[in-house]
Parts: sequence; structure tokens; C-alpha cells
Amino acid sequence: MFYISAGFWLVLGVESFSDWLTSTITVQPGGSVTIPCYYDEKYTPQKKYWNSGTDKPNKYTNTTEENLSVIDHPDQSLFTVTMRNLQDNQAGDYYCVVETGGKLNVTYELFLLVHSAPAMSVMSSSVSGHEGDDVRVQCFYSSAYKYQLKRWCRYKDQKCFSEKKTDTSQSSSVQISDDGESSFTVLMTGLRLSDSGWYFCSVGHLQAPVQLTVTKDGVSALHASTVFCTSI
Ligand SMILES: *[C@@H]1O[C@H](CO)[C@@H](O)[C@H](O)[C@H]1NC(C)=O
Ligand SMILES: *[C@@H]1O[C@H](CO)[C@@H](O)[C@H](O)[C@H]1NC(C)=O
Ligand SMILES: *[C@@H]1O[C@H](CO)[C@@H](O)[C@H](O)[C@H]1NC(C)=O
Repeated sequence: MFYISAGFWLVLGVESFSDWLTSTITVQPGGSVTIPCYYDEKYTPQKKYWNSGTDKPNKYTNTTEENLSVIDHPDQSLFTVTMRNLQDNQAGDYYCVVETGGKLNVTYELFLLVHSAPAMSVMSSSVSGHEGDDVRVQCFYSSAYKYQLKRWCRYKDQKCFSEKKTDTSQSSSVQISDDGESSFTVLMTGLRLSDSGWYFCSVGHLQAPVQLTVTKDGVSALHASTVFCTSI
């Protein structure tokens, strides 16, 4: 893995690389995964790419193929990569890349594992709730990880909540309960609109991405539809 990464470094002329411990995502054969690639807001107009770490060419954002979509969301300062129908031979290193000052800058690196029994997975990779609601996410892990720290992290700032510590400085609190066998549950209470975004369940270097969408509270949604009806 080190050699592949180092080779890629030279090819791209990457200037900064802070962490050699590669995040790993595990997916079942034939399965799919969506990965968020966050970038600094100031790079919104720049070109973005998805690189598979092989000699295959980079994929630009807003590319859609049979088994791959790379879509930019400039309003959220991220692009998403969806890989479908994953096969064993697609395991390997992948990179989110942003072109800055004529150079290619790796913003996120991950190692993809394709395995019939993924070591980490989620019940649902997309959850939603209204403002003020609570939301639960169940994350599954294989027994090899049962004694390791379970975490729930936000991609945008890599801020993590772990099972022992609850950050009370946040008005939206996060609690993690671990069954000690095969899964842990993340409870986010009092959702705020700003909690929307991409998170990941984490144990060891394993990650499982989850998208959280927080919508305006039910009262204002109802109000909006009432206004809509009376205006007809
Ligand atoms: C998409 O994945 C399927 C299953 O692996 C494969 O048979 C097909 O050739 C792939 N399509 C493309 C365009 O690569
Ligand atoms: C990609 O699509 C998004 C909307 O889906 C658009 O806002 C953005 O400008 C597009 N980017 C490029 C490089 O075409
Ligand atoms: C690469 O991106 C990081 C994070 O946005 C930034 O701090 C750094 O200056 C960039 N490097 C180059 C060479 O532009």
C-alpha cells in the first residue's frame, strides 16, 4: 500500500500528505458505495477528480458511467463518488483530488476492500430527520473489532464523537451505545439544519459513510403546504 501511494505521490506531484494511515471502506461484491470528497470552499471553481490509483485516467466531476458517478455539489463544498457493482479486482487505493494552482492536490485517500463479509457496514447509508428530531444510525462491525473504540465522525472537519465522551458544547448531542458484540448505535438528538452532511461510523481504520439530511421542522413544512393549498 505504501508503494502504491508513494508512486501516486510522484506521479501527481502532491505536496502535502498528512496521514499515511489510510481510511478503509469495505463493501460486498456487487455492492455499491458513495464517498463524499469535501474540498475547501475557495476551490469551488477548480477542477476536481476521482483517481483509482492505477494507470486509469482521472475521472472529472460530473461524470456518469454505468458503474460510476462523480457529481459536484458546489453549494456543499463537496463532490460525491458513487461506485456500483463493485468487484474483487477493484479493491485498492482511491483518491479525491482537487486541482489547485495547476497542481493536483489529494484531499482524501481511501483503501477500498471488496469482501463478502464487510468488517464494517451500516444498516442504511442515508438517514434524514426534521429539525429538532432525533435520529439513530446502526453501525455493524466484525468480532475482530469488538474491543476497539467505536466512533462517529463528520467528514467535513474530521471531528469525532466516541462512545465514552459526549461533547456537550454542541447543542446537538451525540451518544454512542455499543452492544459489545457486533453493532453500535449512534443517537443524534435535537438535530439542527447545520448537522446535515456526511458522517462515518468508525472502528480502527475502518469507515462506513452515512449521509444525514436535516429538513425544516414539521410545523413549518405543514405551514408551507397550507399556504400552497390556499393559494391555488
Ligand atoms: C459494470 O459492472 C458490471 C459488473 O461487474 C460489469 O459486468 C460491467 O461491464 C461494468 N460496466 C462498465 C461500463 O464497466
Ligand atoms: C456539476 O454539476 C453541478 C450541479 O449538479 C453544477 O453546479 C456544477 O457547476 C457542475 N460542475 C461542472 C464542472 O460542470
Ligand atoms: C492542498 O489542499 C490543502 C487543503 O485544502 C491546502 O491547505 C494546501 O495548501 C493545498 N496545497 C496546494 C499545493 O495547493
